[in-house]
Amino acid sequence: MAEIDVDRYQGPLREATPNGHVGFDSLPDQVVNKATNNGFCFNILCIGETGIGKSTMMNTLFNTSFDDDPRPHDLPGVRLRANSYELQETNVRLKLTIVDTVGFGDQVNKENSYRPIVDYIDQQFEAYLQEELKVKRNLHDYNDSRIHACLYFIAPTGHSLKSLDLVTMKELVEKVNIIPVIAKSDTISKEELQQFKFKIMSELLSAGIQTYQFPTDDQSVSALNAKMNSLLPFAVVGSMDEIKVGNRMVRARQYPWGTVQVENDAHCDFVHLREMILRTNLEDLRSTTHTKHYELHRRNKLREMGFNDDAQSNNFNLQEVYENKRVEHQRNMQDKEDEMRQTFVARVKEKENELKEAEGQLHEKFESLRKRHTDDKRRLEERRQALEDEMSAFIQRKNTVEMQQSQSKKGLPKK
Ligand code: GTP
Repeated sequence: MAEIDVDRYQGPLREATPNGHVGFDSLPDQVVNKATNNGFCFNILCIGETGIGKSTMMNTLFNTSFDDDPRPHDLPGVRLRANSYELQETNVRLKLTIVDTVGFGDQVNKENSYRPIVDYIDQQFEAYLQEELKVKRNLHDYNDSRIHACLYFIAPTGHSLKSLDLVTMKELVEKVNIIPVIAKSDTISKEELQQFKFKIMSELLSAGIQTYQFPTDDQSVSALNAKMNSLLPFAVVGSMDEIKVGNRMVRARQYPWGTVQVENDAHCDFVHLREMILRTNLEDLRSTTHTKHYELHRRNKLREMGFNDDAQSNNFNLQEVYENKRVEHQRNMQDKEDEMRQTFVARVKEKENELKEAEGQLHEKFESLRKRHTDDKRRLEERRQALEDEMSAFIQRKNTVEMQQSQSKKGLPKK
């Protein structure tokens, strides 16, 4: 093969101005067109207790009545249910997946309520990683199911976070963008709400839980995002009911004493939530999922498999990693086999002892039955003997009486 001699300029990047229009300024348009044609996907996870208003909030957020079957609430554990929908706004298609936590907080023992959620998030990362590792991969058309945003619904107690909330958020914070929201915030007074928000944020801080922050590095949105970060957790109200206010219809919840308008930022933070996650930061949520959370999962997985960057710089050999993995796997299998054999032998011994014990018991039972039988037989024999003796005594007495009668008959004088 011919050797290529390249003399590359190593200095700082030099600026060059084309003398006329070249055309690469249309690159952003090309990117936009391609992305628009492909459509987007957005996966949202709703975590919150039964009946806290998750479905109503999703309907309100996307202004759609997602038809959905009623959820069971007597499950022994938490179950995740994912539903996907195709939405279209002007010419942009969005494949929306809403994942709901069914039965969250319903169990008496809530110790492991977070486990199915963590497993679900990991499974989606794992599926993406498997696709990425394929020789013939298809990430372009890949049906990405990784969770981009997790709306965590906090009950409007006005008190503090429940330990279930803290434990769950702690387990999830490294895996997903958590956006805490105070659900049904129309049930709590304005002053209490401010104190409640403050309490929640300070509790999260002291538990070391850093939930998702709207990014402030893009100048065009930094001021807005910074302001919105200071309003977290958003206090939201959900409703699909419409009422007439002035000369327009608005979505609201109506009470005997008044009306709470969902899209009125003096009544609740719903518009802020919608603005932040759908209009301003949807792409950031998607990219943070890929570059931060998925990356962490991928790094940990590859390390588990024996890959690491230091080895790579030392002429790291894939064959070597594979060989090490194979040896480790064989060793593990051998250990498992030994363990199984030992368990098997122990079980056989245990069964043998059980059988011996049962045999001993049977033997004892047999002996006692036999003894009882012999005693009974002996007793019967004695009774039979006694009866026979009684009978011969009786016969003897009868003979004697008969003899005496016949003699007395003979001795009587004739009339
Ligand atoms: P499950 O999926 O069954 O766990 O319930 P969910 O969390 O999806 O709650 P859902 O949206 O079904 O709402 C339960 C009840 O709360 C319904 O009666 C809603 O009308 C009511 N609700 C929903 N959002 C709000 C709210 O913001 N404020 C008030 N006061 N009630 C609400």
